[in-house]
Amino acid sequence: MDLNLQGKVALVVASSQGLGKAIAAQLVEEGASVMLTSRDEEKLKAVQEELAQLGKGKVAFHRADITNVEDIQALVQATRETFGKIDILINNAGGPPGGTFEQFSDEQWQQAFELNLLSYVRVIREVLPDLKQDGGRIINVASSSIKQPIPGLILSNTFRTGIVGLTKSLAEELGPYNILINTVAPGRIATDRVAFLDDLKANKTGKTREQIEEESKKSIPLNRYGRPEEFAKVVTFLVSDASTYITGSSLLVDGGMVKSI
Ligand SMILES: NC(=O)c1ccc[n+]([C@@H]2O[C@H](COP(=O)([O-])OP(=O)(O)OC[C@H]3O[C@@H](n4cnc5c(N)ncnc54)[C@H](OP(=O)(O)O)[C@@H]3O)[C@@H](O)[C@H]2O)c1
Repeated sequence: MDLNLQGKVALVVASSQGLGKAIAAQLVEEGASVMLTSRDEEKLKAVQEELAQLGKGKVAFHRADITNVEDIQALVQATRETFGKIDILINNAGGPPGGTFEQFSDEQWQQAFELNLLSYVRVIREVLPDLKQDGGRIINVASSSIKQPIPGLILSNTFRTGIVGLTKSLAEELGPYNILINTVAPGRIATDRVAFLDDLKANKTGKTREQIEEESKKSIPLNRYGRPEEFAKVVTFLVSDASTYITGSSLLVDGGMVKSI
């Protein structure tokens, strides 16, 4: 199966660590050129150096806070100037704070909206002229909460389902341009974010992080957390020429954790 990603250009948002970094690495492995971005220039430089060692696709970075519209515009412009085009967009962001309904103010709801939903809208809007040129691809990274809300993560639960509505609507609107757009939803993939959430739960319950992890793993049929590269491979398949008839879908990468049909 030929993924045919050589010569393709991907903008991978929130790629200084975790899932974004793993996706960027996988795309570079397959010969795509990748623009990395996050708020932290030092981290981005280190990731660029690491991925450049792979010796496959080219790697560049541009610092941006994706809650800032001017930063997004400058990021997309920098990607065009560096690589001449954009074929693939991976929308991703940091997770919102954990907590329940009565803990959050309007301001916190607004911040989560801007980070976890509006940023996706804004980046898609900016890259659309490029993607329309030659049947581009968009992946929106969400969460297993799109299928089953996670207790204590109301901000995530609310805005991730918005991503699904956006993806499904855009599959309809962008189909005529041969742009394929899908949501990919991680369950529990071992990254700093998941370690942070496990610590949070450990502090709340008086258990250790290891105990929380063990309990979590018991709810996963494969009995383990996923590896970032396992998640990245699914995303890479969906943006490759091996996948040409999947659009508007939501795909869980969760080791079977979500129980609904
Ligand atoms: N890992 C999982 O199993 C899992 C499960 C469900 C949902 N998710 C969601 O999937 C997303 C990625 O997860 P992850 O585990 O890779 O998280 P992570 O390790 O916390 O990484 C988050 C990334 O987002 C970047 N970022 C945060 N705020 C940003 C901003 N305002 N502008 C630009 N970049 C920003 C961070 O970079 P800088 O700090 O360098 O800016 C970092 O690269 C998160 O939204 C997470 O909640 C993950």
